[in-house]
Amino acid sequence: MESYSLTNKEQTKADRLKQKEISECGTIPEHIAIIMDGNGRWAKGKGNVRVYGHKAGVDSVRDITEACAQLGVKYLTLYAFSTENWGRPSNEVNALIKLLVHTLRTEADKLHENNIKLSTIGQIERFPNRCQEELLDAIQLTKDNDRMQLCLALSYSGRWDITEAVKKMGEKIKNGELDPEEIDDKLIDEHLSTARIPDPDLIIRTSGEYRLSNFLLWQLAYSELFITNTFWPEFRRDELYQAILSFQLRERRYGKIDKGHTGSFTNKIINHITS
Ligand code: FPP
Repeated sequence: MESYSLTNKEQTKADRLKQKEISECGTIPEHIAIIMDGNGRWAKGKGNVRVYGHKAGVDSVRDITEACAQLGVKYLTLYAFSTENWGRPSNEVNALIKLLVHTLRTEADKLHENNIKLSTIGQIERFPNRCQEELLDAIQLTKDNDRMQLCLALSYSGRWDITEAVKKMGEKIKNGELDPEEIDDKLIDEHLSTARIPDPDLIIRTSGEYRLSNFLLWQLAYSELFITNTFWPEFRRDELYQAILSFQLRERRYGKIDKGHTGSFTNKIINHITS
């Protein structure tokens, strides 16, 4: 297993062992998506302003990114700023943008050294120029890296993504480049902002909320869900390991039935019920 360091801490022997055990336990999800929630409540609980929670949340981003890369996860998508987040008080929005710019400035080189490619989904053009420039620089710097792709969803919403895909396909139909009969799942996939990225295998949401909050609505159709009460600033690799172990115990049937129930025993039961 390749060694990675974003946290500037040497990986402990115990952690390496845990990662080895998880890898031997079952499949490591190829794509993990995370709704990082609870920064504000965490800060409030500590008698602090909400922004303090966002700042602390960056430490979790670093730890989880590093652990995912070490484990061999190929894609990690983080819901960092939703379309709806523009509706927050301007001081919070500005602080979040400042934090993003600062984090990109201090972390881009480390991502690069660790062979991690940075990408984004969402309406990047809505961010101030300096933020867009910082993002584009980091994306350019890391574009050829192939160990893991860290995708930041910024000014993103699932409905926006689907709407944009529909518009693009509509335009092609109007220009005679696409026959509506050709539209299928694959074609829709190809018109989403996540084209070329496989759908998430596992979606994690922190802070105990049971919602998708307009995140990757199309792409999460068959993803396994892991919801924890932990607030994002306290979500660290040990809980990520629990989420992966829980994923490994699940049986993904994609709407079909499990293989063990296709034989004569099942036929007997069906005959019994229908007779
Ligand atoms: C949700 O908590 C979190 C966000 C809206 C922003 C997430 C941002 C970070 C973790 C920091 C910056 C990220 C990167 C990638 C540099 P909330 O504010 O909704 O918390 P609440 O539900 O308790 O109010």
